[in-house]
Amino acid sequence: MGPNKANTGKTLESVILEGTRHVSPHPLWLEMISSLKSGFTPTHSFKNSKLPGCDLEKTSLLPAWQTEGRGQRYPCGIGKEDGAAAATDLYPLVPFSRPLSAGTRGPEPFPPVVHRKPPCPGSASTRCVRARTGQARLWGCSPETKAGTLVLIQTFWLARSALTALAMLTHFKRRPGCWKMLAVAVCMVLLAGLQAQDLQGHVSIILLGATGDLAKKYLWQGLFQLYLDEVGKGYSFSFHGAALTSTKQGQEFVAKVLESLSCPEDVAPERCAELRGRFQQLSQYRRLRTSEDYMALSKDIEAQLQHEGLREAGRIFYFSVPPFAYADIARSINSSCRPGPGAWLRVVLEKPFGHDRLSAQQLATELRSFFQEEEMYRVDHYLGKQAVAQILPFRDQNRKALDGLWNRHHVERVEIIMKETVDAEGRTGFYEEYGVIRDVLQNHLTEVLTLVAMELPYNVSSSEAVLRHKLQAFQALRGLHKDSAVLGQYQAYSGQVRREQQKPDSFHSLTPTFAGILVHMDNLRWEGVPFILMSGKALDERVGYVRILFRNQAYCAQTETRWVADQSQCLPRQIVFYIGHGELGSPAVLVSRNLFRPFLPSGSWKEVGDRPGLRLFGRPLSDFYVYSPVREQDAYSVLISHIFHGRKDSFITTENLLASWAFWTPLLDSLAHEAPRLYPGGAENGHLLDFEFTGTQLRFSQQQPEQLVPGPGSAPSPSDFQVLQSKYRDSPLISAWPEELIAKLADDIEATAMRAVRRFGEFHLALSGGSSPVPLFQQLATRHYGFPWAHTHLWLVDERCVPLRDPESNFQGLQAHLLQHVRVPYYNVHPMPVHLHQRLCAEEDQGAQMYASEISALVTNSSFDLVLLGMGTDGHTASLFPQSPAGLEGPQPVVLTRSPSKPHQRMSLSLPLINRARKVAILVMGRMKREITLLVSRVGHQPKKWPISGVLPSSGQLVWYMDYEAFLG
Ligand code: BG6
Repeated sequence: MGPNKANTGKTLESVILEGTRHVSPHPLWLEMISSLKSGFTPTHSFKNSKLPGCDLEKTSLLPAWQTEGRGQRYPCGIGKEDGAAAATDLYPLVPFSRPLSAGTRGPEPFPPVVHRKPPCPGSASTRCVRARTGQARLWGCSPETKAGTLVLIQTFWLARSALTALAMLTHFKRRPGCWKMLAVAVCMVLLAGLQAQDLQGHVSIILLGATGDLAKKYLWQGLFQLYLDEVGKGYSFSFHGAALTSTKQGQEFVAKVLESLSCPEDVAPERCAELRGRFQQLSQYRRLRTSEDYMALSKDIEAQLQHEGLREAGRIFYFSVPPFAYADIARSINSSCRPGPGAWLRVVLEKPFGHDRLSAQQLATELRSFFQEEEMYRVDHYLGKQAVAQILPFRDQNRKALDGLWNRHHVERVEIIMKETVDAEGRTGFYEEYGVIRDVLQNHLTEVLTLVAMELPYNVSSSEAVLRHKLQAFQALRGLHKDSAVLGQYQAYSGQVRREQQKPDSFHSLTPTFAGILVHMDNLRWEGVPFILMSGKALDERVGYVRILFRNQAYCAQTETRWVADQSQCLPRQIVFYIGHGELGSPAVLVSRNLFRPFLPSGSWKEVGDRPGLRLFGRPLSDFYVYSPVREQDAYSVLISHIFHGRKDSFITTENLLASWAFWTPLLDSLAHEAPRLYPGGAENGHLLDFEFTGTQLRFSQQQPEQLVPGPGSAPSPSDFQVLQSKYRDSPLISAWPEELIAKLADDIEATAMRAVRRFGEFHLALSGGSSPVPLFQQLATRHYGFPWAHTHLWLVDERCVPLRDPESNFQGLQAHLLQHVRVPYYNVHPMPVHLHQRLCAEEDQGAQMYASEISALVTNSSFDLVLLGMGTDGHTASLFPQSPAGLEGPQPVVLTRSPSKPHQRMSLSLPLINRARKVAILVMGRMKREITLLVSRVGHQPKKWPISGVLPSSGQLVWYMDYEAFLG
């Protein structure tokens, strides 16, 4: 670009007109000039213009994008690029933010839009205005005109154009010539729309934890990418790196990180340096510690907006900080750093989001007190991985081919895998608390699972629909139990924890670093299809993928050597979303050629050719159609862009989060004391971690070898102990480790059922609620194939006065863990009528009496074949509580009672009815029951104090089932 001679001695208006000389002036342009004319003080006659800070020597003709920035002295100038394309003919009057560096010429791939208006020199009341036509842009300073004037003009123009178009449409039929006019009007509307884009506003992005690892590795790069992608679309930005680090250190750190930012491959190195330079100018570090610091930050943003006459679009706070810091930061943002009216706030949160359901709920409640749900963006970076982000679009765009295939009739199994070679060294503080299930399966793999399993919304680009369907997928997940998992731990782990956490030599960790989990979905689409989730550290390779393997029911008459990849139905048929790394080395979508040729959007995915010698999943690569992204993008860059565009479906909502924890927490609890299998790590793992499944049960394929590390810490296994039989309160007692105990109880129930059906043709079983019977229900559901369910009647011992669908309802527990897995005729299922006439346990509704009548009508002598009871820590049983006489005696077989804990209202079988049973089994499990077990062993018949002591079948049998923890402590 040449020196500034073309501009000398001109008024702004003349420059504008000159600028538009090569193109037909847009009416808006003229309108704007006339409306602003009076306001535009032609201070900017360029000859001898001496604005404060102007250095005409350095002033040059610059494309507008080179004039962004702030915080420096402002040389000034106006540009007109000689010989450049008409589209960039007029350059703005703009104080330059920095001296021109050499070598900034060249064809301009970025639209020369002024994104950031520099402070207007002159009096405080001077405002800057910006205008643009399709061909030219300018900045001007005006004492009277507000920046909003332009918006008004553009809105007016947009409205006027739209009205014109409408008017034409009405006359359209009568006047054929209107076609032309209509086209013109439509263009005008579009043009005006484009112009409005230029006023998108200013976005401040505050990166909290800007000096941390994640920020260094991914977030700054993601922000830079966002800047590159969006700055040409009418937004202006400022980036505030923040942390607790001192200002000096922080600045140095951030400066270093910014120096290392890279551009997409297709950007030339000089150009990249230039773009990086501009990004650096928009970025600054500040220390944020106290709420005053946040207040000051907000003031600075406001001052900048005002000073530069910018409209605020929104603020993004990216929390790259540990969760314990969330609450304080959230409070400060909420109280003093929210953007002004009309602008949005987005807070971005990084996992871990809690440790289990309860802690996640607490954290969510806390955050909810500061932010609206729509303001929160919980990141799961796997949702930003290109292959993962492609799952729904792929399902959508290949609906026709997949519609008939994506279900239990065709899918044999789904594998969702994330293998790592790294171990947890350096992170054991975190890892000890979380372990592989919380670190990877509860979030990354579960998210992927829902994308595969959810019903496809009609409109996959509707965030709301996607989130709703995702939540439904969570609801269809069948509960997990101990047998759904295999756990491992690499051998060096405990030593690393001892070293890093200063633990004694005797310390051995039980934290799993490897887990394989078998998941089932209880819905029509997926019933019976195993979903295998697996992840681990210190494995033989780093790779992530989702593999959908289809059933194969074909027989091929030709010999295998004649099978042709795209014709033979005998070759494996699979679809793989290859998340990354592994043999392939990059993200990809693979579809077996004998399935169908998939459609992937050609702008972003390209088909890749064969790589001879490369085999995946047992087949040569040539067996697949293989697609990979045209431009590989890091997950964080993808997600930062989605945050910016408010695409909530790529993030974890509170409901989604809690649903996921609700699914995983029971399993985590049940595995808390399990000793994981030790493995040496890397290739040496051999087949040690291979696992296999039957039904809903998963187990390692190989027997546990001799302990790799002998010594303390390894938990005794149940088989080390015999099932003990003795007496408790003069009745038979069966005691064992939980697994054995449940297995024994289930066997006994089945034997009782068989006997009853043989003798009477039916079996009446009354079951309690609560958590103790859950493993029993699961055991019955999954292991007792010979159980006479078709002849079994199921009754409830007690019920909470909540709707039957309520998760707290005992019936709901029975439904979730047993009923939905077995075939009991529905007329044999007898929930307690706690919810009648739309109210709960109202005396007038006589629910208790109704239940009693039902029992008396169906159960001979109202004598159940088996009643299963539990014992509370206060000695209650069923819903018969200490110090409350209801149901302890008297003629009423079923009663309404009050519990000391919520929900207070209950319905319960009475003691007399329970005692009519042929057999009563009392199941007591867990250390928490130790004290009451001891106490009750010593007390006599005192049902008022300890209702359990009143259980004594008049002619039937009573058997106690206690696990060792309850019995021995
Ligand atoms: C993180 C886990 O969420 O994901 C790490 O905390 C794990 O333990 C990482 O290593 C894996 O992510 P990626 O992108 O490397 O597959």
